[in-house]
Amino acid sequence: MMNSEQQNWIPYQMKDVVDVNDAKMSVRNYIEQKDLRCYLSLINNKRKINAAAEFGCGYGRMTQVLTEFASKVIGLEREQSFVNEAVTLIPNVTFIQVNDLSSKILSGDTFDVIITFTFLQHLIDEQAQKVIKEMIRCLKTHGHILICEETDETQIFGNIHDPLGQCTIARSVEKYCEYFNPLVLELTAPRRIEPDYPRENTGTYMIFRK
Ligand SMILES: C[S@@+](CC[C@H](N)C(=O)[O-])C[C@H]1O[C@@H](n2cnc3c(N)ncnc32)[C@H](O)[C@@H]1O
Repeated sequence: MMNSEQQNWIPYQMKDVVDVNDAKMSVRNYIEQKDLRCYLSLINNKRKINAAAEFGCGYGRMTQVLTEFASKVIGLEREQSFVNEAVTLIPNVTFIQVNDLSSKILSGDTFDVIITFTFLQHLIDEQAQKVIKEMIRCLKTHGHILICEETDETQIFGNIHDPLGQCTIARSVEKYCEYFNPLVLELTAPRRIEPDYPRENTGTYMIFRK
């Protein structure tokens, strides 16, 4: 298997994880972590979350919220530099560097909750479908997948055909329902970020149940 030093993809950098800095970034992190906590509470009230994972976790910005609910938390990320930061800063989460997030790294039928946060939108269609298939395999029966992704279909940038390139592909909620089939969509809610962001529709929270 290729290791991260032999990477042949265009690497993501800190500036690609959150596209604002300083005060705006603090406000965005606060709002997004608060909203994620709220949706995880809804899930936890229905069915206790013991084990949770984030696919495409970056440096663990949102993964940390999972530790408020689950005793076992795993973050999967392609960029070794993000994993290095996360391992040092968030020691109660297991972070794993993975070149291809559709590969079978985790055991099947293991997690009560799996999340993605502005990750699937950066995968080309074929990759996204393979990664989603893997997420579903790792999820326990009756478990939940919570995603927060761009859904305004005008937001399409970069090379949308090269799996090693960089792109953004906003997909409608209907498209994600198709990709997550046979999981059932239980909830949608708008993504909220800092109020002075130049665009209004910045994505949607979607909760699917297996
Ligand atoms: C916008 S960042 C979001 C990170 C984290 N979920 C957060 O909200 O802070 C997108 C993440 O997806 C990862 N990523 C992007 N394209 C990828 C691909 N084709 N395969 C695997 N990971 C990818 C990047 O390394 C990056 O960490």
